Amino acid sequence: MNFKNHPVEPFRIKSIEPIKILSEQERAYKLKKAQNNVFQLDAEDTFIDLLTDSGTTALSNKQWAAIMLGDESYAGAKSFKRFSKAVKDIFRHEYVIPTHQGRSAENIMFSTIVKPGQYVLNNTHFDTTKGNTLHKGGIPLDFPCRQSKDNSDFRFKGNMDVLALEEAILKHGVDKIAMVIMTITNNSVGGLPVSIENIREVSALCKQHKLMYYFDCARFAENACFIKRFEPEFADHSIEEITAEMFELVDGAMMSAKKDGLSNIGGFITLNDKELMEQLTELMILVEGFPTYGGLTGRDLDCLAVGFYEAMDESYLEYRIGQVKYWGEKLKEVGMPIVEPTGGHAIFIDAGKLLPHIPGDEFPGQALTTAFYLEGGIRVVEIGSLMFGEEDPKTGKQILAPREMVRLAIPRRVYTASHIDYIIETARKIVENKDSLCGYKITKQPKFLRHFTCALEPLAVNSMSSKK
Ligand code: F0G
Repeated sequence: MNFKNHPVEPFRIKSIEPIKILSEQERAYKLKKAQNNVFQLDAEDTFIDLLTDSGTTALSNKQWAAIMLGDESYAGAKSFKRFSKAVKDIFRHEYVIPTHQGRSAENIMFSTIVKPGQYVLNNTHFDTTKGNTLHKGGIPLDFPCRQSKDNSDFRFKGNMDVLALEEAILKHGVDKIAMVIMTITNNSVGGLPVSIENIREVSALCKQHKLMYYFDCARFAENACFIKRFEPEFADHSIEEITAEMFELVDGAMMSAKKDGLSNIGGFITLNDKELMEQLTELMILVEGFPTYGGLTGRDLDCLAVGFYEAMDESYLEYRIGQVKYWGEKLKEVGMPIVEPTGGHAIFIDAGKLLPHIPGDEFPGQALTTAFYLEGGIRVVEIGSLMFGEEDPKTGKQILAPREMVRLAIPRRVYTASHIDYIIETARKIVENKDSLCGYKITKQPKFLRHFTCALEPLAVNSMSSKK
């Protein structure tokens, strides 16, 4: 369903949520009031919100109908039966532990199996997986494939570097390794997919060394869609078949179902190991809730039971991946340097490349982020030195992130093609004025995760806020 390479939404709109754009002066005022930190803006003051694709999905008519069937009994609810039937049918593992979101699944898993000083090996840890590993005294190590850093059009840049993984296993020894995780898709390298070939190679290595091998599978359906498109062996397989094939290769999975569960909250752990399931369940009762609801309402479980299937619908996936691709091509046309090829849930812009006149310690990503808000009321997120850098306690100088990126994540089934065109038009205006954008300095920051709450000030008058 393409119209001049423009993916047409395979749904129509039954319920709407009004959004409005503030005037240019109001936007400048609101940003200043938020101390130039977009996390501090009120959501109602943003026109298009691209902060995350997590929990921001629109629900379908079938999900709203399922919500009405929610059974809110404390124990043994029908909703749980429907949820666990769907999870077992799709992911094929024997046991399922519901959790309220991804990071609580990580917390329960790592609290149970990670001993202080042990390593957790991943293609690339997402922030919360890394944070939860460190919190239990573990050491997170990343093994992204070498192509993840180059400009080639290699299709599976989310892959794990299997040779580097093997070296690490031999170097540290099996006893020092708590588990191996494959993140699908690989969020931190651009939402890029992992091939079945790579999942298989890592599986064989883990079997050989008797290591626990799990997925972090927040975006499993998007990953399966890329496999269907680009791994010839699977061209004629359904998304359901590819998903089953992927999950057969791992011992279990942790999921933030706020992404490809097409729901606003939820998560789970699946596994086949009964003894570990019992250990995990003990802790989950303590911190999440009874095993048949895991911090969720009955209606959430019913919503997820429908959402997992809808996420695997091929016309939906073709549209979703096509929307990101179309968007990426148009952004390139207007002069935005983006990470290529595009992935499943977001566009990553290289702000360092776009704004070479702003040095890393003046946060070019933040300059671009504020420009999107000032120019178009669009909220995006900096993932460069503001998020991942830190201040050297001795010299007070900024230790910089490897790249100055900005992420534009696209909520599922929420924005239409004309919203996308509006974002592209805003980007065009920013590129035209890019030389007049200025850097920022931090005026106040907390000890940890400074990007959420720090205060910033522009180092000159930002042209986006002063132009007539
Ligand atoms: N794993 C991956 C790969 C993720 O992308 C996320 C969340 C989590 C785990 C944690 O799940 O939020 O349900 O606790 N990613 C969101 C994002 C927040 O914006 O990329 P959670």
